[in-house]
Amino acid sequence: MDVASLLARRRMTRSFDGSPVELDWLVGACETALLAPTAGHSAGVHLSVVGHEHVGEYLEVATDPEWRERSARYAGWARAGGLVLVSSSVSAYLGRYGEPDKAAAGLAVRDNWPVPYWHGDAAMATMALLLLVEEAGLGAGLWGAFRNVGAVRDWAGLGDDELFATVFVGSPDGRDRPSASLARAVPTRAERVRTIP
Ligand SMILES: Cc1cc2nc3c(=O)[nH]c(=O)nc-3n(C[C@H](O)[C@H](O)[C@H](O)COP(=O)(O)O)c2cc1C
Repeated sequence: MDVASLLARRRMTRSFDGSPVELDWLVGACETALLAPTAGHSAGVHLSVVGHEHVGEYLEVATDPEWRERSARYAGWARAGGLVLVSSSVSAYLGRYGEPDKAAAGLAVRDNWPVPYWHGDAAMATMALLLLVEEAGLGAGLWGAFRNVGAVRDWAGLGDDELFATVFVGSPDGRDRPSASLARAVPTRAERVRTIP
C-alpha cells in the first residue's frame, strides 16, 4: 500500500482484542522505524518493546487506580498485544552538537535549544512505527508522556532518557469509543497549508 493510502487509513486504535503481537515482529518493526531521520545523526532515540504479558504491569505503573476505575477505555488499552516506549537521550544530542562540526551552533547546552531535536527525532520514529503497524494490518494508539512519567522511566529502565510517548499495538476489536478530540471544529488540512508568496 502506498504511503498516502496508509496515512489516510491510519487512525488511533484504543481498544484491542487481547491477542499478543509477535514480539520478534515488533522488535523488527522498531528497528525499521529507526530508519527515520535523526538530527546530526545523533541516533539518540530508543524504542523499548514491552510484550503482551507485561502490558498490565505497564498500565499499573503508568496510571493511577482512580483513572483505571473511571476510564471507559482502560479495558480496551489493557487488551493491547504489546507496546513500545519511545524515549530519547538528551545527552546524545548535547554531545553530538558539541562536536567540532556542530559546536558553533551553541547547542551543547540544553537551554540553548529553541526546538529540542530529541523530541523531533522521537516523533519521526513514532510516525514511522505507526505506519509500519498500519501496513501490517494491526492498530496502534498513542499516549503522550504526561502521567507517572518518572515511574514509567524507572520501571522500564530508561535511565536518563526522556519519555516521548507510549505506542500501544495490537489487533483492533472494533469497540473503540471515538475520541472527544475528533468532535472539535478544527481548520481543514487545506487551511493549514499555505504558500508563501
Ligand atoms: C503527541 C501526541 C500525544 C497523544 N496523546 C494521546 C493520549 O494521551 N491519549 C489518547 O487517547 N490519544 C493521544 N493522542 C492521539 C490523538 O488524540 C489523535 O492522534 C488525534 O485525536 C487524531 O486522531 P487520529 O490519530 O485517529 O487521526 C496523542 C497524539 C499525539 C501526536
